[in-house]
Amino acid sequence: MCGIVGYIGHEDAKEILLKGLEKLEYRGYDSAGIAVNNGNGVHYFKEKGRIADLREAIDNEVEATAGIGHTRWATHGVPNRINAHPHQSASCRFTLVHNGVIENYEMLKRSFLETVELKSETDTEVIVQMVEYFVNNGDTVEDSFRKTLKELKGSYALALLDNEDKDRIYVAKNKSPLLVGVGDNFNVVASDAMAMLQVTDQYIELMDKEMVIVTRDSVIIKNLDGAEIIRNSFTCELDASEIEKGTYPHFMLKEIDEQPFVIRKIIQRYQDEQGALKLDEDIRGAMQDPDRIYIVACGTSYHAGLVGKQFIETLAKIPVEVHVASEFSYNMPLLTGKPLFIFISQSGETADSRAVLVKIKALGHPAITITNVPGSTLSREADYTLHLHAGPEIAVASTKAYTAQMAVLAILAVDTARTKGIELDFDPIRELSIVANAMEVLCDQKEEMNQIAREYLATTRNCFFIGRGIDFYVGLEGALKLKEISYIQAEGFAGGELKHGTIALIEEGTPVIAIATQEQVNLGIRGNVKEVDARGANSCIISMKGLESAGDRFVIPAVHELMTPLVSVIPLQLIAYYAALHRDCDVDKPRNLAKSVTVE
Ligand code: F6R
Repeated sequence: MCGIVGYIGHEDAKEILLKGLEKLEYRGYDSAGIAVNNGNGVHYFKEKGRIADLREAIDNEVEATAGIGHTRWATHGVPNRINAHPHQSASCRFTLVHNGVIENYEMLKRSFLETVELKSETDTEVIVQMVEYFVNNGDTVEDSFRKTLKELKGSYALALLDNEDKDRIYVAKNKSPLLVGVGDNFNVVASDAMAMLQVTDQYIELMDKEMVIVTRDSVIIKNLDGAEIIRNSFTCELDASEIEKGTYPHFMLKEIDEQPFVIRKIIQRYQDEQGALKLDEDIRGAMQDPDRIYIVACGTSYHAGLVGKQFIETLAKIPVEVHVASEFSYNMPLLTGKPLFIFISQSGETADSRAVLVKIKALGHPAITITNVPGSTLSREADYTLHLHAGPEIAVASTKAYTAQMAVLAILAVDTARTKGIELDFDPIRELSIVANAMEVLCDQKEEMNQIAREYLATTRNCFFIGRGIDFYVGLEGALKLKEISYIQAEGFAGGELKHGTIALIEEGTPVIAIATQEQVNLGIRGNVKEVDARGANSCIISMKGLESAGDRFVIPAVHELMTPLVSVIPLQLIAYYAALHRDCDVDKPRNLAKSVTVE
């Protein structure tokens, strides 16, 4: 979602800001802008569309060594140039970029800005006008900024310029991510370290309800009462090459191909020198206690959670419920006496999941976050973190994080079982090694997947994915991948459920992709395929070696029956990828979607 960058130093700020914004493009956006401050006032440029459009709109004659930039994913007001950030106060003295949602902006408008004519439809503009309101009433800029922050309800990451002071950027955050990067004779601001890795790998974490005054050679953090806070920087471990596409045409394809490597890395990170599973003792302890586990997540991470439930219940014998975060936060189920929460989130910043975390922490319940970003909000605010080690995932459609989530959940389930003294005939390290090899075989069969996509999906309006048991969960993920990047209406169903309504949608030629990797339900799912075939469907069975039948369109290598989701999803990811290509869609940046969903 929205991304923020800022720079104050001695170089020309424009190019540094634009490069930073380009690195934030993956989060999803529909307009972008920058503002620079050079002592002759603040100059801003903004455009609807891509950063490339913004580049065109910039006057290269304007030189400045301080500035802020923004990519906007519209929430309040349509995506157009007027609603794009930066926004300015009435006199144009103050210029602001904002990530988040101000819930009480209507009320603030009525209370403070009755006489101000707002130019945009955004909640953001209220913030910058309020800073000016307090300044006009005699407060210093710093006090005005602080007073404004105290009035805001909701989420924000903010960067503010004052055209009467080219030596400062005012910054603040609440619930939305924001970091300050530290350099030699310069400092930067970024929603995500990736954005400014081009200039520094040293970052300072900011906490909610803190404000920061950033100059060329200092970073002064204060709480909202004005007390100064001292905090050291940390080194961001990201390697800049990890966030480049290299020779790949799209990040999504690169990330699909990285999956065998990620699984091997997880094996390495969660195993000690003697070959035993290696997990934080506190997490081990936490997993021994609960009478029920509640997994909370969104989208693809929710689908990984469904598979995780199978792992934990089958192996560790603890009952598990899996919940969509956005529903859970206002429709909380009756909790058991000793619940443990597991949040699954690639980004660790998803606002829906965080809202649940805040609620359950207030109730005093323990929480583990499984995430790809250990320093993220969900990671910091939970009691414990399990790291996915998947490397940065840039494509909006999640692929390697999904398989990494399931791998880590399998390790957690087995470790819990062993600690409880449950004897298992399942060695996760061995099974995951087999998975990694199978993934490699599948990644080498791209042309076959391209052919399936061309044959079944190049022109279709819709597509169904069916499976039974654990295959049903993979079908849900296959459908999500396909719809989000190819815009084909796709749904996943439990095979046996079709005849209770959905089969009415099957027409001559409707593609139905069936996943058949489970011995117990192999006959059942094949029966469902016959039902849809009898009604004209164009069915495509993806089965597993050992369970295949004549006519199956694709057969994946054999893996342990619990591990099949990590492997059967690869053809579905690739089919979605090629379907999107055949339909000329923007694979890495699908319309309307954001990578890091930081609003509820
Ligand atoms: C789909 C996708 C989304 C995310 C969801 C949760 O490909 O990426 O459905 O899975 O927005 O995001 P995280 O995992 O960052 O909490």
